[in-house]
Amino acid sequence: PHVTIKSICCIGAGYVGGPTCAVIAHKNPHIKVTIVDLNAARIAAWNSDELPIYEPGLDEVVKSTRGKNLFFSTDVDAGILEADLIFVSVNTPTKIKGIGAGFAADLGYVESATRKIAEVAKSDKIVVEKSTVPCRTAQSMRYIVSTPNLFLTHLGSFSTNTDALPTRGSQLEANAKPDIHFDILSNPEFLAEGTAISDLFYPDRVLIGSLDTERGRSAAASLADVYAGWVARDQIITMNLWSSELSKLAANALLAQRISSINALSAICEATGADIDEVSYACGLDTRIGPKFLKASVGFGGSCFQKDILNLVYLSESLHLPEVATYWKQVVEMNEYQKRRFTNRVISCLFNTLTGKKIAVFGFAFKKDTGDTRESPAITLVNYFREEKAYISIYDPKVEESQVWMDLAEPGVVDETEVIKKQVSIAADPYEAAAGADAIVICTEWNDFRETVLDYERIYASMKKPAFIFDGRLILDAKKVSEIGFKVETIGRPR
Ligand code: NAD
Ligand code: UGA
Repeated sequence: PHVTIKSICCIGAGYVGGPTCAVIAHKNPHIKVTIVDLNAARIAAWNSDELPIYEPGLDEVVKSTRGKNLFFSTDVDAGILEADLIFVSVNTPTKIKGIGAGFAADLGYVESATRKIAEVAKSDKIVVEKSTVPCRTAQSMRYIVSTPNLFLTHLGSFSTNTDALPTRGSQLEANAKPDIHFDILSNPEFLAEGTAISDLFYPDRVLIGSLDTERGRSAAASLADVYAGWVARDQIITMNLWSSELSKLAANALLAQRISSINALSAICEATGADIDEVSYACGLDTRIGPKFLKASVGFGGSCFQKDILNLVYLSESLHLPEVATYWKQVVEMNEYQKRRFTNRVISCLFNTLTGKKIAVFGFAFKKDTGDTRESPAITLVNYFREEKAYISIYDPKVEESQVWMDLAEPGVVDETEVIKKQVSIAADPYEAAAGADAIVICTEWNDFRETVLDYERIYASMKKPAFIFDGRLILDAKKVSEIGFKVETIGRPR
């Protein structure tokens, strides 16, 4: 018989912890869910009318549940003390310094959250990795929280990599608590931003990894019951911890690889007269390939694809598998190439110089329906345009102005905003962004930018001539827009 979960704590109130645990609370009114974070401003926003992140459907879920069985708090200790099950949903960015810098995941936040659990807990806890982590992280977490007894009993069953084994002396771990059991599970999250709520309501699968021991299987069954509040049992799959951890990195790598593959083909299309949308359509009809995730673009962005692939590259190198590392690294390199290639096309169409020209950038978020700009291709493009001495006017329906200044600032430079503002401005709407511009560059696929929504005749009238549109997202009907007079340049279509 396994434990029935009555109280959940989620450490990390970010893009994953917030929506995921709000949905868990919404679907399980009998479970108390407390989402905690050290960032007081973020928690205050979760408790206000203006949630810290924009996701379609999120407001309704939070507002219907908050104060009933869903709580947001900065009191991490109280959250841990009360919970039977704790999600660790903190950030795992790419390391910028030290061993593995530029590739490895920085597990400092996971470690400090885990140490906190070990230090504060006064009863048994199921600790769940929700963050995306390198394969075998659960072992380190287990080491941090393990009791000497549990450690000795289970050592043989979970350690296959002898390099990673804790030394004997470290069994005297300060955090060890002889009477408390911690079970570590892996439960990676597959939601995509912009569709987080529907991805959570109707997941393709829920993945739970555990040790193949009685305690491990029992903890997995407790977590499975939570998801069974709304997900069919046959969609909740269980497997060993390491397979579960690696499956998350693998899924993101395979998805990103599809985009780099289609983007690599888009370059061939532009050079030959083939049309990338037609090629995607033709290939996607093969049921073995499938139609999704084959949209050519100016490049993929988001906080995870690049980070997780680099993480996989680092893992491969650490395992002395250089050919595997090179293979995956190429997915990121192709993405960088696509952004550079698209910029070069803009420059060459604009008569080989951007100096003094005005470029309207439509969209700054990394994809539509989110205000998130992490690793957005728009940041790279705007920086390239700045290097070419262009004036840039940016419009995005959801991105805050202060975020744009932060994203464009050189890392480490304290306040560059005034310098950046000499070249970059933020427009209140697309019409203002395009007024007097030489070119529009569509960086994000917001529906708002379609010719069925925007008045492109009005925009054309306000622009310098010849007026160019560079569609980096294949969202425009190029024929209709060129009939207005625009010179339309589309990614993956010949010039
Ligand atoms: P985020 O930066 O939005 O949120 C993380 C939060 O954790 C921050 O608010 C931070 O203040 C908090 N935090 C860090 N250390 C803490 C500590 N010790 N105690 C309390 N709070 C702490 O990150 P995110 O986008 O939610 O991503 C979280 C994890 O989920 C990452 O590993 C990411 O790879 C993974 N993931 C993200 C997505 C996505 O769409 N963003 C999807 C699937 C998986
Ligand atoms: C991605 C995965 O889709 C999620 O399953 C995963 O949970 C998440 O990463 C994560 O681990 O963080 P996300 O980055 O939020 O989700 O958004 P995606 O829809 O995957 O888009 C990523 C980028 O690829 C965007 O810039 C998007 O515009 C681009 N993209 C996507 C394309 O260029 N072409 C496509 O066909 C699809």
